[in-house]
Amino acid sequence: MDTRLKGIHHITLCPSGAQEDVDFFTVVLGLRLVKQTVLMDGSIPIYHFYYGNADADPGSILTCFPYSRRKGRPGTGQIGITCFSVPVGSAPFWADHFDRHRVCHTGIQERFGARSIRVTHPAGLELDVVENPGDSRRPWTTPEIPAEVAIRGFFGAVMSMRDIEEQETFLVHALGFRKVGVEGAYHRFEIPNGGPDRTIELLHEPNRPQGSWTFGAGTAHHIAFHVDTDDALVEQKALYEELGYTDTSEVKDRFYFHSMYVRSPGGVLVECTANVPGGFYVDERPEELGTHLNLPPWYEDQRDIILGQLEPVTVPEANRPKPGATRPKPAAVAPPTAEIALSRTKAEFSKAH
Ligand SMILES: [Fe+2]
Repeated sequence: MDTRLKGIHHITLCPSGAQEDVDFFTVVLGLRLVKQTVLMDGSIPIYHFYYGNADADPGSILTCFPYSRRKGRPGTGQIGITCFSVPVGSAPFWADHFDRHRVCHTGIQERFGARSIRVTHPAGLELDVVENPGDSRRPWTTPEIPAEVAIRGFFGAVMSMRDIEEQETFLVHALGFRKVGVEGAYHRFEIPNGGPDRTIELLHEPNRPQGSWTFGAGTAHHIAFHVDTDDALVEQKALYEELGYTDTSEVKDRFYFHSMYVRSPGGVLVECTANVPGGFYVDERPEELGTHLNLPPWYEDQRDIILGQLEPVTVPEANRPKPGATRPKPAAVAPPTAEIALSRTKAEFSKAH
């Protein structure tokens, strides 16, 4: 079957401390902080950070809920490894760079013929940088990480699975992936005609206990794939239901995009997103992305309560945007779409926690 999925939109992780997370992703991995906002669900103010490449492209957006109030349990039924795309030949740079920052890593490994390094985030999350040929997405650069080696966006993700078969059925029949190979315990799938972020792997770990599904420090929470329009979201929801995956969510207004979720049979929460006009540029100019805390308009009346419960964070000065470092990007305009009912969450934040 052909797929309506265009690639990954974002991957969402739960790290622990907010400043620790900003420092790791901006300084060690060299990503750009492109949005500071808050988790829209629940009644406790939790940051929602978005990191990305220079253009905040879908497929480069790592989002984080720093959730130090509760530890998660890593295990099967989760995204185990988030994989970033780096240029061929850059692995030795990354090994040296990780050594300089004294972060735990595996050294250079090889999987499906490509070199990669697995590095551990301070909260215990595992991340790969994978050499990926022909990725022309524009990287963010830092004084330590030049364009020749910098991260382009996602390569993909590895889902840890006790069983492969049912999750494989879901990837192929519900999401339109095709299986392209098996190497050891890794089963690799790609979106046909997909871009540099077209790869998902299932890692068969039959004896590993199931991981937690809650928000919890040290675990991945979900992965999102992007489709073109709200209509495509509705079609995707109908496909899930036709196949029997009936626990789908309504289409939610996430302000920067629209979202619909389903729990996949292997346990991983899978979201699909559709663009809204403006996207990440709807509330900030390209050159100031990520420099302020932004709230969806329907949360503004609670700004003081929210701000009072969030620790201040700062991006190290050398990693902040500089004049001329970004180019204006035309706002994405979604094609005409059918009128659909959108669900909008509005948490009532309590004053003390
Ligand atoms: Fe999401």
